[in-house]
Amino acid sequence: MTLTIQRKDLLPATMLIGADWRHASDQRRLPVTDPATGDAFADVPDGTASDARDAVDAAHAAFPAWRALPAKQRGQILRRWNDLIVAHQEDLGRLISREQGKPLAEGRGEVLYAASYVAWFAEETTRANGEVIPPSVPGRRMLALKEPVGVVAAITPWNFPAAMIARKIAPALAAGCTVVCKPAEDTPLTSLALVRLAQEAGVPAGVINIVTASRERTPEVVDVWLDDPRVRKISFTGSTPVGIHLAARSAQTLKKLSLELGGNAPFIVFDDADIDAAVDGLMVSKFRNGGQTCVCPNRVFVQSAVHDVFVARLAARVAALKLGPASDAASQIGPMVNARAVDKIESHVRDAVAHGARIVVGGARVDAAQGGGANYFAPTVLTHVNAAMACSREETFGPVVPVTRFETEAEVIAAANATPFGLAAYFYTNDARRIWRVTDLLETGIVGVNEGALAAESAPFGGVKASGYGREGSTHGLDDYMHVKYVCQGQL
Ligand code: SIN
Repeated sequence: MTLTIQRKDLLPATMLIGADWRHASDQRRLPVTDPATGDAFADVPDGTASDARDAVDAAHAAFPAWRALPAKQRGQILRRWNDLIVAHQEDLGRLISREQGKPLAEGRGEVLYAASYVAWFAEETTRANGEVIPPSVPGRRMLALKEPVGVVAAITPWNFPAAMIARKIAPALAAGCTVVCKPAEDTPLTSLALVRLAQEAGVPAGVINIVTASRERTPEVVDVWLDDPRVRKISFTGSTPVGIHLAARSAQTLKKLSLELGGNAPFIVFDDADIDAAVDGLMVSKFRNGGQTCVCPNRVFVQSAVHDVFVARLAARVAALKLGPASDAASQIGPMVNARAVDKIESHVRDAVAHGARIVVGGARVDAAQGGGANYFAPTVLTHVNAAMACSREETFGPVVPVTRFETEAEVIAAANATPFGLAAYFYTNDARRIWRVTDLLETGIVGVNEGALAAESAPFGGVKASGYGREGSTHGLDDYMHVKYVCQGQL
């Protein structure tokens, strides 16, 4: 199968600023490569600081009219955007898989996942209610009104090129904000296609502006937004060091921030768990997007009594995973997004083995002669993993399951929390009292109890500690794009 798309105009060679689809100010181009082959198959503008400034000008100019539009009308536009995304599921799914590498079933699934955020916020826009506060003295009326923060800069990652755009732009628009957006340099095409559909849905000129840029040029684009006092909020998904940079630099203009940063999720299997359910849950959460997910388990802890049976059942499932390009309908694990990603995975596996870990399945790159290519890494299970190894300390972001044996509940909770990160955690047990004890003690923003697939547009997604702050999705996801204005009317 070739990943061609029906609507060629969903692949614009330009980016949207104000009402214009245009090239970079210096005409420079950014090639987009297929991770399965390494071949460049499209190119987009490589935006500049000047383009970034134009984008803020356009978003700032569009803000008064967009915020003044009744919430119901903003919601109707978002609903049309949702409908168009769903109607173009096949084309968008193919684009995602082509530029990001995930199997086509996952690309198609991501389109519906992205749309679910747009549909959710289409409805939430009419529920951004404020409060009427009982007055503290006679003759007063006191209110708390919710208002859009203003221009939002959305900086999105490559692992979910559609869902992350939707999860940031939909609540921003629902709140009445306007947006400047920079998608990841590896995956700019999906975001351009989504913005094209937003325009068709009736989003007015200037409300969404998108600047595509290479890795090299990203700092000049983003710095313009960090320094411009008209940009009132930054929403970023990506690494913790970049999040810290954004927070530090935007502190000069005291912007509101939503930072969804790195994770190092523990996945704990207690000896009273349903082992088959735990293996199923781990397969879903670990191998989604080839392990390139912020919430995917990075450290697997299994209690001694069930360790060997768990590892045996897991290893059989992992060994059966089918590796291949997104264009192969049978593929379950695609290529990693780029060469840097594979280098990191390989270095983690080598480091673990050098320090005593044992490879049960996989453990190496898969080259073209073995049915892979430059960016493929075999789904891997490691045992005898300890806390000092790089794969326990850092996010591997690949298809590697490092397993550590543990004895007691107290020991595993201490181990699970012994990381600067706190995005997601998972555990499997059939003991109802343990469920609440462990849930309370885990230092993360998200907890999966006997469940590996947690994502939902109606649920708050976000972390604590070095995994950032702010929540995406749910009613909290709208509040993050609004501020509260207290109004006190006297002389009544
Ligand atoms: C992420 O990896 O940042 C998002 C994962 C999700 O939405 O489940």
